Amino acid sequence: MDSGRVVVVTGGGSGIGRATALRFAQEGDSVVVADVNEAGGMGVVDEISQNGGTSFFEHVDVANDESISELVRRVRDRCGAASVLVNSAGILQNPTRLVDLDIEEHDRIWAVNYRGTFMCCRKFVPDMIELGEGAIVNISSTSAARVFPLLAYSPSKTAIDQLTKILSADLGPDGIRVNAVLPGYVRSEQMQLRIDQGFRDEAKMKEQSALQRMVEPSEIAQGICFLCSSAAKAITGSILPIDAGYLSSTSYQLYAGWTKS
Ligand SMILES: NC(=O)c1ccc[n+]([C@@H]2O[C@H](COP(=O)([O-])OP(=O)(O)OC[C@H]3O[C@@H](n4cnc5c(N)ncnc54)[C@H](O)[C@@H]3O)[C@@H](O)[C@H]2O)c1
Repeated sequence: MDSGRVVVVTGGGSGIGRATALRFAQEGDSVVVADVNEAGGMGVVDEISQNGGTSFFEHVDVANDESISELVRRVRDRCGAASVLVNSAGILQNPTRLVDLDIEEHDRIWAVNYRGTFMCCRKFVPDMIELGEGAIVNISSTSAARVFPLLAYSPSKTAIDQLTKILSADLGPDGIRVNAVLPGYVRSEQMQLRIDQGFRDEAKMKEQSALQRMVEPSEIAQGICFLCSSAAKAITGSILPIDAGYLSSTSYQLYAGWTKS
């Protein structure tokens, strides 16, 4: 059944998480928007309610283990055990050299992006095992597959890819599927801010992608919903690029033997 599920979206108050929460709600699921940003999360809940969907906001800081435990308890009490978890809470990083890297920022990125994803899986999975089913989607990045000057962000995403594959093997026998989406350059609030501040070049991002454009948050959401649906019931341990052809095109453009006319 692809509706009527209890779905938790961390980072659901903005960007990819927001679009994902809206999409699951459209499909008839009860969506828990879990975010450290209460105003953003409440805004998404209001949007879902106005469209006739069912949604709740729960505060969580995924970098805090007790906060995640509290989230699991509150979700269970409010609407029953979650069978779908989307780990979209995450923070981006601006490019830097090793010698200039702020170690506090490094540790915060690992705490939110990797450890937050890991701990949410750790704490939501026991309920899924009891249900005998579950679907988890993590959020990777092109920076997991390329060499970028993002010394904390990029390795944190590579680690998420590996975690996704390990958990798919670990939890498959329990009926739980674990996949990841690998977004290209997505026009989320966080990304738009970086474009406006001059940390990302929009023209370059478009030029590097085969389809010559950025990806919309709703397009990532569709991929996430697919991976959690019964149409994907044989898919686990996969990392699905939704990148407007960024990975293929950047590799293609590097080929030394031919110049595009
Ligand atoms: N935008 C892109 O181009 C892009 C590309 C690849 C991967 N991603 C990944 O997608 C995910 C979502 O990013 P986005 O672009 O939608 O950003 P966003 O800032 O629009 O959304 C991220 C959300 O996570 C929340 N959050 C941050 N720290 C948190 C914490 N400690 N606990 C709970 N919630 C927290 C924020 O409040 C925000 O609502 C991230 O993991 C990001 O790394 C984004």
